[in-house]
Amino acid sequence: MSDSRPIGIFDSGLGGLTVAKEIFRIMPREKILYLGDTARFPYGGRSPETIGTFAEQIARFLIPRDIKLLIVACNTASSVGLERVQKINHSMPVIGVVLPGAKASVMRTAEKKIGIIGTKATINAGAYTRAIADIDASIKTYGKPCPLFAPLVEEGLFDSDIARLVAQRYLYPLVDIGIDCLVLGCTHYPLLYEVIQETVGASIQLIDSALWTAKEAQDILLALDVLAPGSESEGIANSAFYATDLSPDFEKSAELFMGKKIPEVEMISLDELVACVKE
Ligand code: DGL
Repeated sequence: MSDSRPIGIFDSGLGGLTVAKEIFRIMPREKILYLGDTARFPYGGRSPETIGTFAEQIARFLIPRDIKLLIVACNTASSVGLERVQKINHSMPVIGVVLPGAKASVMRTAEKKIGIIGTKATINAGAYTRAIADIDASIKTYGKPCPLFAPLVEEGLFDSDIARLVAQRYLYPLVDIGIDCLVLGCTHYPLLYEVIQETVGASIQLIDSALWTAKEAQDILLALDVLAPGSESEGIANSAFYATDLSPDFEKSAELFMGKKIPEVEMISLDELVACVKE
């Protein structure tokens, strides 16, 4: 059986388009319904309560829109608010980016020493550490918040001396500990892939949570027999994109994360999102 309903995806901003990009790469027929909370970006320095509330508002906006799977593409919202989203009464599967990234890192570590980088909220929440320990309690994890990475990417400075300096400061301590695997636990970090790899050296494997989340979504849709019908590339053209703010740089940033232009974006007011929880 095929199912033409879209996949719902949300993020604190446009970084979640790195997950959307992987979805379209491996499942070009799938349509998505994406919401980027650009008005309230970034989430990474906020309290767990606030992040959880934002995540619930967005999930309650997307769930009634006839989606077949919901992906919390934001590492910060996945680390802090996934359970809150999963508790909302609905019948569809809901996944975050933490478990797919954690599983991939466990499969790849030989030394049983995994580094995790993300926002302050992601690292403080310890969700990656718990997910890895649940799979193999003998693995040691080392979390490092990297709050300057996302702004560097937002400013287009991913291939720059300043990015290299910041990467060295954040990552050398992890290299010294002897990790052999590093989880990129933020939507923005795939854009710093080269700088991060160059800094930690070729012997440390980088785990891109966006890629593994897209694969997990594919496995779920296959298992439920609800993959999209249709011709090869219609997915992106028939997708819908929402944002809570459209800054002058919006189109450029979206193209950066997606690797191509996205179709027209509709603005959703914060009032509308907030009302989704009150209803
Ligand atoms: N999407 C966010 C994440 O993956 C980007 C950073 C932020 O909002 O602070 O954590």
